[in-house]
This record gives sequence, C-alpha cells and structure tokens, in this order.
Amino acid sequence: MPELNGRDTTMDDPLNIETDLETQSLLLAAANHDTEALRNLLRTTSANDPAIVMSDGQIDGLENGHTNGAHAEAGDERKKELEAAARTVELLFQNGAIWNDLDKNNETPGCIAHRLGLKELYDMVVKAGVRAELLLNRLDEYQMLGDDDESEAEEDFEILEDPQETSIIDIEASDVNSAGYLASDLTFTADRLLDADKNGVMMAWETDIMRRTADRLLPAPSLRVLNIGHGMGIIDGIFQSKSPSAHHIVEAHPAVLERMRRDGWYDKPGVVVHEGKWQDVVPKLVQEDTMFDAIYFDTFAEDYKALKEFFSEYVIGLLDPSGGKEGEGGRFGFFNGLGADRQVVEIDLMEAGLETEWEEVRVPNLDEAGEWAGVRRRYWALDTYKLPTCKFIG
Ligand SMILES: C[S@@+](CC[C@H](N)C(=O)[O-])C[C@H]1O[C@@H](n2cnc3c(N)ncnc32)[C@H](O)[C@@H]1O
Repeated sequence: MPELNGRDTTMDDPLNIETDLETQSLLLAAANHDTEALRNLLRTTSANDPAIVMSDGQIDGLENGHTNGAHAEAGDERKKELEAAARTVELLFQNGAIWNDLDKNNETPGCIAHRLGLKELYDMVVKAGVRAELLLNRLDEYQMLGDDDESEAEEDFEILEDPQETSIIDIEASDVNSAGYLASDLTFTADRLLDADKNGVMMAWETDIMRRTADRLLPAPSLRVLNIGHGMGIIDGIFQSKSPSAHHIVEAHPAVLERMRRDGWYDKPGVVVHEGKWQDVVPKLVQEDTMFDAIYFDTFAEDYKALKEFFSEYVIGLLDPSGGKEGEGGRFGFFNGLGADRQVVEIDLMEAGLETEWEEVRVPNLDEAGEWAGVRRRYWALDTYKLPTCKFIG
C-alpha cells in the first residue's frame, strides 16, 4: 500500500477499503490463532504488506495468545493456547512478518513476549531475528562478489579449480541475462539446447536428475503438475508418462514455444501451455485459484532472486497443502544449481514455510564423456547433485 508524504493512505482512502478488510481479516485470524484461515488469507495478503505491518498483525496475534492463556483456568488450556499462538507466530514469520517491527507503543513482538513472560514465543522471535540477520549478511556478501568485474575466463577457472565453491555467485556473475536470452536464437540438437552464444540452456546428461525429480514430485498418476521452463521437454515428457490429470507448462522463449507446437505439446492430454514469462503468468494462476499437487521450477538466465521470489511469493498460492498422493501434501522442486549455498536456500525455503528433503544423485564425469565439447561454459562441475523436494512445514 503506497505511503504519500509519509502518511499511511490505507485508512482514509475509500478505494483502500478492500485492503483494509483483508488486513482486518488477517488480524482477526491471527488473534484467534485460526491458522487455516490465516494460511488462506496469506495466499493473497502479505504478512509484511505495509498495511499489515502498520496494524501490527503479528504482534496482536502474540498478545492475544498471552491474554487468552493467562486467563485460562486450567494449565492444560493455557498450554494449548500457547501452542496455538506459537503456530500462528510461526506461520506469520514464514510469510514474511517482520520480527522487529514496532507497534504503536514502540514495542517489538519480542519486547511484548518478554514483558509477558512468554518464553517460547520470545525464543521464536529471537530465532527469526537471527535468521533474518544471517541472511542479510549473506546477501551483502553476494552483492560484493556479484559486483566484481571478473573476466569470463577467470570465472571458468575458478569453478574448475574449486568445484565445491560453485554457487549462485557464478550464476549472477555470468554474462547471460534474461532479456538477452529470451531474444536470442536457439539451437536444438538431440542432446542439447544452446543459446546464440553456445551457452548450455539444457543438456541430455541431466535426464537422470529430471527423472528422479519427476518421481519425487509425481509419485502417483492423476495428479496436477505445473512446470516452469520447458527447455528440451525432458521433465515434461516424464511428467506426461505419469498421466497427470492436469499438466500446465509455462515457457517464455518463442523458439521453444514454436518447437512445442511442432511437437504436439499443445494437444497432449491435460496439457495447458502458458506462453510468456512466469513472472506474468503465475500471478494470474494464483488469482484464478488454480492449484497443483506438484510444481517444478527450472528456468535459464535468471538469478537466485527470481527463484526465491517464486517460492516465497507464489508457491503458497499454487501448491495444494493437502494435495499429492493420498493427500499427503503438495510438493515443490527446482533445479538446484546452487552448490555451496544450499544452506542459504534451505533457510529461505523455511522462511517461505517449506521444509526440504535432499537426495544425492551421482553425476558422471562430464568432461570424460565429452559433454562440454562445443559448449561455451561448463555450468556443472560437481560429482553429486543435491536434489531438493519441498513440502509445507507441518
Ligand atoms: C533449463 S531449461 C528447462 C529444462 C527442462 N527442465 C527440461 O527438462 O528440459 C529452462 C527453460 O526455461 C525457459 N525460461 C527462461 N526464463 C523463463 C521465464 N522467465 N519464464 C518462463 N520460462 C523461462 C527457457 O526458455 C528454457 O526453455
């Protein structure tokens, strides 16, 4: 919600009534510790939307948890009340509520929890604070390294010299950018898809990774899957073989779309092709309430911020928490090119309400196999791929 001349425009602008109602509903759900209603509301309303922050939704939730608990006659009831308050606070933090925001009395959630003697809740706020500060520090480091004007040869050398350090820095420092890539010509061969500069967009050696990913995301037939980034269509082919009841594909490159049309993808069972960047397509899917049991994200020439935006902002609105095989919960996966930065992603995923399981997949010696011949940049140098599968926490 915009602030004009330092004023909060939420309350006195009649056009903002809808947001205000959403804010009030969110506050009410938090105060009642109604996590189901809260989760639904958070699909369309951010916990760190300025309107919410100014109304101190998470603080109200905390305070109410205490008040109800303090008045509860039986210790049991108080314990239950505190547990419900903890779940509410956790959900709000997972959805971006600010750990050190101030209420009208200049108190943070931590101050209030401490003042009221709610140790469990106070500890949760401290942990959220530590996580936030750690992440900010890491992001500062990325910025510094990303600004470094290394030559491409030096980058390649660095990756090969110390493969364990392959990380999002290497992706960010590369000279490929999304707009340039989407406007570039592509070359398709049987075992690779290259952009105009001979960068590998997708390569057949990743098939085993795609198969294991698909097996984890779609463990049964008749599930609903969303795939972001068609590439060579490897994972989409495997998804199709699992007879999904709905199979949505988002693809932005005109040449990939043309090939999909030629290969009959538009007519395959359950397939809906969304032409365009996921940044334009996905908000519409959320608005239309389209839900999935499985989501896979694998784009090209985008940095870590894009992946993080996707899972922090949109997965909660797209993934059915009760979906999946026998209602055991929807699953989210992504191509993990992050190497040494796995812990940071895991924390970010946790902040987004997702817990992650990692499976180790052996990668054959790609140099020996001659995989990189004719490819400008070796984008993979590790002998193990850590395959992530995420589900909503709890
Ligand atoms: C690495 S490939 C995907 C490979 C795929 N997983 C497979 O199994 O073949 C990345 C794909 O994402 C597409 N892409 C890149 N940026 C995109 C965006 N912002 N929105 C949608 N698709 C995008 C690229 O055109 C490319 O087709």
